[in-house]
Amino acid sequence: MTAPTRLSQKPNRILYQYRNFFITILLMLTLFIVLIVTYHVFKFGDIQHGSTYRALVLNDVSTLPIQVLDRDTPTAGATNSSCSHFNCFNVYRCGSGGNQLLVYVYPPKNYIDSLNRPLTSQMTREFHQILHTIISSKFYTPNPREACIYIPSIDTLNQNRLRVQEVSQALRTLEFWDKGENHLIFNMIPGSVPDYNPMLDVPIGEAMIAGAGMSSLTYRSGFDISLPVYSPLTANLNPGSFSTRKWLILSSQININSAFEQDLMELKTTFPNDIMVFGSCLHHNPMNNTIRCVGEDVYKYPDVLQTATFCLVIRGARLGQSVLLEAMAAGCIPVIIADTLVMPFHGTIDWIRAVIFIREVDILMVVPVLKKVSEKRVIELRAHGAWLYDRYFKSIEKITETTLEIIADRVFPHLARDSTYWNIPSHSGNVSPLFLPITAPKTRGFTAVILTYDRVELLFLLINKIVKVPSLSKLLVVWNNQHKDPPHPGRWPKINKPLKVIQTKENKLSNRFYPYDEIETEAILSIDDDIIMLTADEVEFAYEVWREFPDRIVGFPSRTHMWDNRTSCWKYESEWTNHISMVLTGAAFYHKYWSYMYTTAMPGDIKEWVDEHMNCEDIAMNFLVANWTGKAPIKVTPKKKFRCPECTNTEMLSADLTHMVERTQCINRFSNIYGSMPLRSVEFRADPVLFKDVFPEKLKRFNDIGSL
Ligand SMILES: *[C@@H]1O[C@H](CO)[C@@H](O)[C@H](O)[C@H]1NC(C)=O
Ligand SMILES: *[C@@H]1O[C@H](CO)[C@@H](O)[C@H](O)[C@H]1NC(C)=O
Ligand SMILES: *[C@@H]1O[C@H](CO)[C@@H](O)[C@H](O)[C@H]1NC(C)=O
Ligand SMILES: *[C@@H]1O[C@H](CO)[C@@H](O)[C@H](O)[C@H]1NC(C)=O
Repeated sequence: MTAPTRLSQKPNRILYQYRNFFITILLMLTLFIVLIVTYHVFKFGDIQHGSTYRALVLNDVSTLPIQVLDRDTPTAGATNSSCSHFNCFNVYRCGSGGNQLLVYVYPPKNYIDSLNRPLTSQMTREFHQILHTIISSKFYTPNPREACIYIPSIDTLNQNRLRVQEVSQALRTLEFWDKGENHLIFNMIPGSVPDYNPMLDVPIGEAMIAGAGMSSLTYRSGFDISLPVYSPLTANLNPGSFSTRKWLILSSQININSAFEQDLMELKTTFPNDIMVFGSCLHHNPMNNTIRCVGEDVYKYPDVLQTATFCLVIRGARLGQSVLLEAMAAGCIPVIIADTLVMPFHGTIDWIRAVIFIREVDILMVVPVLKKVSEKRVIELRAHGAWLYDRYFKSIEKITETTLEIIADRVFPHLARDSTYWNIPSHSGNVSPLFLPITAPKTRGFTAVILTYDRVELLFLLINKIVKVPSLSKLLVVWNNQHKDPPHPGRWPKINKPLKVIQTKENKLSNRFYPYDEIETEAILSIDDDIIMLTADEVEFAYEVWREFPDRIVGFPSRTHMWDNRTSCWKYESEWTNHISMVLTGAAFYHKYWSYMYTTAMPGDIKEWVDEHMNCEDIAMNFLVANWTGKAPIKVTPKKKFRCPECTNTEMLSADLTHMVERTQCINRFSNIYGSMPLRSVEFRADPVLFKDVFPEKLKRFNDIGSL
């Protein structure tokens, strides 16, 4: 009886053995899959290419730890619009890495709502790349307790995909959330129909936003970080081809608002040879982002951007437009027509060097304005744009790294890099081993600030002369007369540079040194209304000299100070001597910073004294600059005779004499207040290289240089 049993058991046992084998295989397979999934989830491996913000990777969020959000889960709290680096950011969390910014990334979770629906089933490729970049960067720390910045692994890049309320709840469940302090939320497509808020609508408490398309009306300066709208289409572009381009201007956006669309049509009718307007392809798929059409003709996008010198970036329903990066990648100079748009990495990147801004109301002027841009400037703009693109915008990785670098500069201001680091390609300007300042850029020009009281004829004469100086970018007339209004706008000279008149509230000399918002250039030419003897060549040359010495006063009328043995006092000297220690601000270039310092940081009662006595404002300015720089001013060109109140002449009036006596007193008074004599003397003057050389005039750069 045992035999059959044994017999009947034998196949069973074989089956059993096989089953073991299968189970082992199955177990190994499962383990393998789990390992792969885990690898993908935690190591953020590479993913296949997809189009913008399309889904990817964590398709299987079900493998992640589950976090339930029911109706009662509180949200993260309303976004605090008055947050700034100084009240919502906690720098005390940032010391553990020494001077290194440490960033923690929360492990991803599977968030499900009360109906058991997952919050998202997918993460965009772009967000995945952001997390991957941070985790592979020098900033990453796996230890949340030593971190300074926290990054939620909840994909908030595209608000269209988000359930706003639930995402806010999910943020609140994060272990170190605490009102959102020091948390950074990434976003590239904010707002939704119909009002397209330029800021993510998810309530995020006191967290910071690194977001695209932000508006200057809501952007929290120094707290949020402005990003570009990333475009995956740029990957297919080769920016190398800067050859001559068929069109001056090109518009390629397909969803711009109808008012702008009409303006573009009008432009196209008026300037058919200069501007090209591409639209969507109604005969194909109108949503297809890789083609553009003009009538029946189909063009490849973004390649078509390489056929124009300038590409328009116009405000759409959303402020941020992906065409900005597409144009930069295509070597097409972006022309920004979006008044409130906060440019990417605002406050760090100096966009004037790479793009052109045109106000929305001036859109119909775009062709004449851009036609005036010189070929040299086009080359500069394009080269700088290419450099910026390559350094900061080429990929999600670059954008993410730059974001963290900017935060690092904020958190450790003593290590922060200056504007030169961010904005000047190192190959274009060798850094001096002596830490000397670099040459100021020429492109922005200077603002002429003219102080006047009522000498209208002289003033108009001066305006007509100064407007001929090529680098002049704006004229600002400071009308220091409260009893008489400035001339009616129709009476002013017709000139081709912007002119602004400011009528002051009090007749004070310090008004000439106020750092008015209207002064948009670094360089100021301060000039009296009676200095009409300077030629355009002389002023332009002086500006060139100032660019080489941007920290000094550079100008025409010079003076000096001397020690007087007899009186044991300083003496003001306007005789021609072999050295100078002051350049008068009746005709001088200086940096706008000094206007700011004059207005806010003048020692003692110097400023009040000057305003009261209506004298010595120029001496006070020379003291100020000399004290802070330890350097002498620079006199340009041989010209020495200026019509000015204190010029030496044979029949000096007694009023003039008092004036001179007072100036000597000023020097002594000011040096007492400074505690020493800050003025420095030089035996040095700047003249154009070929000045006085026996050489044909037409070969000289600066011809019209007078001798006295
Ligand atoms: C926003 O933050 C500031 C600074 O921390 C705080 O004073 C203010 O009460 C906050 N506002 C709200 C609505 O929470
Ligand atoms: C868009 O158009 C291009 C060129 O005609 C085509 O290759 C591509 O498949 C289209 N894409 C979509 C999403 O329709
Ligand atoms: C001023 O005093 C110095 C030293 O006392 C002397 O060498 C110099 O000759 C004097 N100069 C004049 C002009 O008196
Ligand atoms: C003079 O300049 C120094 C810096 O070089 C500054 O510390 C000082 O406060 C200045 N003095 C006055 C009176 O402004």
